[in-house]
Amino acid sequence: MSAPPRRLPVVALISGRGTNLQAIIDQARSGALPIELRAVVSNNPEAAGLERARRAGIPTEVVDHRDYPDREAFDRALMARIDRYAPELVVLAGFMRILTPAFVAHYRGRLLNIHPSLLPAFRGLRTHERALEAGVHEHGASVHFVTDELDGGPVIVQAMVPVLPGDTPERLAARVLAREHVIYPLAIRWFAEGRLALRDGRVWLDGRPLAAPVRLGPEEDAPGQAAEA
Ligand code: GAR
Repeated sequence: MSAPPRRLPVVALISGRGTNLQAIIDQARSGALPIELRAVVSNNPEAAGLERARRAGIPTEVVDHRDYPDREAFDRALMARIDRYAPELVVLAGFMRILTPAFVAHYRGRLLNIHPSLLPAFRGLRTHERALEAGVHEHGASVHFVTDELDGGPVIVQAMVPVLPGDTPERLAARVLAREHVIYPLAIRWFAEGRLALRDGRVWLDGRPLAAPVRLGPEEDAPGQAAEA
């Protein structure tokens, strides 16, 4: 008998409801994502995503930022807690704290984030509201490697979501979120399969630097997903 395929050890960081976390859990369970989600860490003891992890039998940890005098101390405690699980990849899944350069350096090249806009447009908060205010026709979400620049690291993959007449921030957010659940597991799968890396500040996929982020259209399946289903 052949050995089961190696699963990449991953730790996820959350602050809230955890729907992206749930998408990752579901795909890991179905076998579509070759990862072992070793722990879910939250800065917020009330995060609903913690319950999602518990239901899936994944260890949970809370490192409450309010227990620490400053960002540096919080990030040191967070790193220590994460590193107990020896992850090869750390994913920010709705983690709403700004990370220190020391934290980012510690996980350089193995720290991913999902952001609800087509970066570099609309870094920061209230992205859907701001996209509507700006009158853009195309909005979406981006998965990127985390660097010192907030929401500024090299982008791996984006999902495009058209803005529709009569959209509200809530409606637009819901359509973007559904696509986040496609592109985040996709980028994690590429990383777990050894196809994705951050090298010299650029995204490399399948042995080549990306000239531009991979873009998924509004109806497009993740590459490889439909065929494998
Ligand atoms: C997601 O929309 C994610 O893109 C966003 O928070 C939400 C978390 O939802 N992240 C950021 O804004 C990071 N700057 P979830 O908890 O249901 O996954």
